[in-house]
Amino acid sequence: MPKTSTPVQIGLVFGGDSGEHAVSIRSAITVLQGLRGGENRHRYVVVPVYIDRQGRWWGPAVADAVLESGQPADEQALPQPLPPSGFRSLPEGTEAVDVWYPVLHGPNGEDGTVQGLFRLMQRPFVGAAVLGSAVGMDKQAMKAAFAAADLPQVPYVCLQANELEPSEAREQLLKRIEALGYPCFVKPANLGSSVGISKVRNREELEIGLRQAAELDPRLVVEQGVSARELECAVLGRDQLKASVVGEIRFDADWYDYETKYTSGRSTTLIPAPLPDEVSQRVRRQALLACEAVGVHGMARVDFFFDEEANALWINEINTLPGFTDQSMYPMLWENSGLTLEQLVHELVQTAGQ
Ligand SMILES: Nc1ncnc2c1ncn2[C@@H]1O[C@H](COP(=O)(O)OP(=O)(O)O)[C@@H](O)[C@H]1O
Ligand SMILES: [Mg+2]
Repeated sequence: MPKTSTPVQIGLVFGGDSGEHAVSIRSAITVLQGLRGGENRHRYVVVPVYIDRQGRWWGPAVADAVLESGQPADEQALPQPLPPSGFRSLPEGTEAVDVWYPVLHGPNGEDGTVQGLFRLMQRPFVGAAVLGSAVGMDKQAMKAAFAAADLPQVPYVCLQANELEPSEAREQLLKRIEALGYPCFVKPANLGSSVGISKVRNREELEIGLRQAAELDPRLVVEQGVSARELECAVLGRDQLKASVVGEIRFDADWYDYETKYTSGRSTTLIPAPLPDEVSQRVRRQALLACEAVGVHGMARVDFFFDEEANALWINEINTLPGFTDQSMYPMLWENSGLTLEQLVHELVQTAGQ
């Protein structure tokens, strides 16, 4: 962070060409509110940058309108003629940005790609860097990193879509998966928001689930299904990471699928989660270890399964750019840990590095 009394220019990048485009806009609105509130008003000038669904980058003129409306930009309303899809160059108006702040979820935002761009530009940015983002995004790589750090996970099998082509090896693979027992969860390795995940109860459903997931991603994971409470812990910091209070998601569904995640009234959050102190401490400790295992700093939300009867805790996943809407767990966990939204985004900007 440059030491200067003039406000720091924050390049707030949001939208993106992933399935979580609309959520990203809502997250960016909350971050913007934090960057413009309280003391931050004098510290920061926000330069919004919008990435449309085709991956084109737009400067403040377009980005402000998207933040204002809260809706993805209509293609027809964008300046014409439209440039080709994808990143071409930084939009006008972003020349003086000091610190980049990506508020993007899913592929091309949370997976190290945009972080690589900031690193090449030799500019500080908020959140996990290339390695942590990439490893955290890919469920196969993430599981391997957790396993190497001896963090407890539910039993799982990793596979590639091409292993599903008819062969003798395929039959053996299916047997290995079935040894996990039913029900199990079939997941594409690189999506998020529960997209492409299915809970399967027999061989027929397993085959369907695998086929559906393989259409979305060549890398797949199958996990033993557990019947457990879902706990989440937020992490923040750079050299010294800290963990928030523990939260819990409860929902009115068999599992936390896409529809349940994004239909209001279908889920509730309990903060802090009603847990014995010893369990909360274990969650917080493991959340920090999970960040270390994956090489994440800046910000992360680490999600767990907790089987109360067996007193067993398993790490489910790490999210390096967790949802940041006014309904999202990450800011709410910090609010309950004593950090206001303004203090939280200020701390996040302080952790920015390359
Ligand atoms: N092994 C499992 N046992 C029980 N429920 C699971 C399991 N894996 C996933 N789920 C359910 O599916 C949801 C989404 O899975 P998750 O791996 O967190 O995917 P995403 O990265 O899309 O959020 C979880 O929140 C949980 O409700
Ligand atoms: Mg999840």
